[in-house]
This record gives sequence, structure tokens and C-alpha cells, in this order.
Amino acid sequence: MRRLRKDHLRPLVRESVLSLNDLIVPVFVDERIDSKVEIPSMPGYYRFSLKEVADEVGRAMELGLRAFIFFGIPGRKDEVGSSAFGSNDVVQKAVREVKREYEDAVVITDVCLCEYTSHGHCGVVRDKRILNDETLPIIARVAVSHAEAGADIVAPSGMMDGMVKAIRKALDGEGFEDIAIMSYSAKYASSFYGPFREAAESGYSFGDRRSYQMDFHNRREAIREVELDVEEGADIIMVKPALAYLDVIRDVRKRFELPLAAYNVSGEYSMVKAAERLGWMDGKALAYEILVAIKRAGADLIITYHAYEVAKML
Ligand code: PBG
Repeated sequence: MRRLRKDHLRPLVRESVLSLNDLIVPVFVDERIDSKVEIPSMPGYYRFSLKEVADEVGRAMELGLRAFIFFGIPGRKDEVGSSAFGSNDVVQKAVREVKREYEDAVVITDVCLCEYTSHGHCGVVRDKRILNDETLPIIARVAVSHAEAGADIVAPSGMMDGMVKAIRKALDGEGFEDIAIMSYSAKYASSFYGPFREAAESGYSFGDRRSYQMDFHNRREAIREVELDVEEGADIIMVKPALAYLDVIRDVRKRFELPLAAYNVSGEYSMVKAAERLGWMDGKALAYEILVAIKRAGADLIITYHAYEVAKML
């Protein structure tokens, strides 16, 4: 076995390769700030102001990164998340800014309500219950508003049943047949989202997300979730989180032909950064190894906070 492990031969027989085209950069845009603020639980990661966001995209593009997923932090929240769909709300403005300067940047928008609702849940709430069907028209409206602003791909992350179908129908009805849907198809209720909730101020005021996000004890159920999204018209499917869910990525890869994304989430990033800070492990090497492992499991695309540092290595 060692014959092919010489330095100059290894690349010849390499099975999985990570490329810049595989990476999607998460971008947090906060409409309440004037200059970037570091996220305490995500060292080296920032929320950007609307003024800075296009420049930040430009900086990433100089490193060869081309795809971005935008998350908004609004100045105001209410019961139904109405600051998620106005044409002058934070994500819509950010998308216009970015597209004006960088037409060929791939602009993906996260479509969810949790950053915009006062209770922090991903849907409309009544009597402490998160309502499914009542939420669908609202997220469809959010998706259309992102398309109007110039998004290339919308990415519903709220785990409401029927969300892909509702969004596809609304987009087609408004003349956005061409806008693709990347669905967070198999998204688990996970403690790995902790730092994100601080970053996006999307923590919930009561309960948890287990009535809509998946139970991490389940593997077959992920296939059913993805199957439904494919039937409903998803163009790209996703498994989230990534690192503790490589088995699920593998299963989904085997069963479906669609492009598959994996979300290397905030907690996965923060663990690496914490170990790096403590001087316990080599953070850059770890990040690269983790992303290659996610590809090896079968993902085509990876949403990752490590995109900048790994782009520099590539
Ligand atoms: C919003 C959303 C979340 C993440 C992406 N979109 C948080 C959640 O579901 O609570 C998590 C991303 C991360 O942890 O990096 N629905």
C-alpha cells in the first residue's frame, strides 16, 4: 500500500478534492451597525453593516470565493417576522448592494423567520405552537422579495412541511421561474447552532425547535425529508449540520442525483477555533481535513465559516 504514498504520487491517486467552487461563504448583515462587529463565540467572524457588505464580498472574491449565503439581522422584530419581506429590509438591501457591484457573485439568501420574529421561532406561533401552514405564505413572500432584490438562489431553512412547494409556486407566479431553490432538507435540531444564534440574534424565547427540526436519533427519516423536497421542486438539497452527520450525507448522496450541499455549522467552526486558541490543535489543518471529509462523504457544496482560511490554503 505504501508504493503510492510518496509525496509526488499521492496527488495522482487522490480520490476527493476540495476546490474553491465547492465553498459557500455565510455573510451576516446587521442593519443596526455602521461598522463590522466580531461575533464573540465565532472568533474571526463578523457581522457587517449594509455599507460594508459589498466590499466584504469583493474581498472574498479576490480569494477566489464566488458564492455567498446572506443572513439578516433586522432593526425590528414582530410576531410574524414582517421585517423579513419588505423591499427595503436588510437582506433585500444587501442583495442589491452586492449585485450592483458584483454581478457575477452567486447570491443565495437564507429564507427563514427566526431572525425576524419577536419570539425567535421559524414560524407563526399560536398558544406556544409553531404553526405550519400559516407560515408558508409568509416564507413564500420572503423568497419572492429576495428574488426581486436579485438573489440567484433562495434557501429555505425553517423546516416547515411544504415550504419548497409553496416557494416554487410563489416564485413561478411572480415570474421568477429561473430562481433556484436550495432547501435545507434534512436539518436537525442541534446544539451545534449555538454560536449562530448569538451571531444572528435568532435564539428563541420559549421551547425549542424540536417540533420542526429533525430528531438527531434518526437517519432514515432524512431520506423521507429529502424525497419530499425533491418532489416539491428543490434544485439543491442540503444536510445540516455536517460533521456529526456524515452518515446522513452519505445516505443522501447514494439515493439522490441532485447537487448536495452540507452546512458546516457555527458550532463546528467554534470548536475548531477554541482548540486553536488553546494551542491544542492546528486550526487550519483541522478545518481543511474537516472540509475534505465532508466532500469525501459525498457533499458537492459546503457552506462554511472556514471558507476564507481554506481559500487561502487552496
Ligand atoms: C435559521 C438558521 C439557523 C442556522 C442557519 N439558518 C439556526 C437555527 O436553525 O436555529 C444555523 C447555522 C449555523 O449554526 O451555522 N433557521
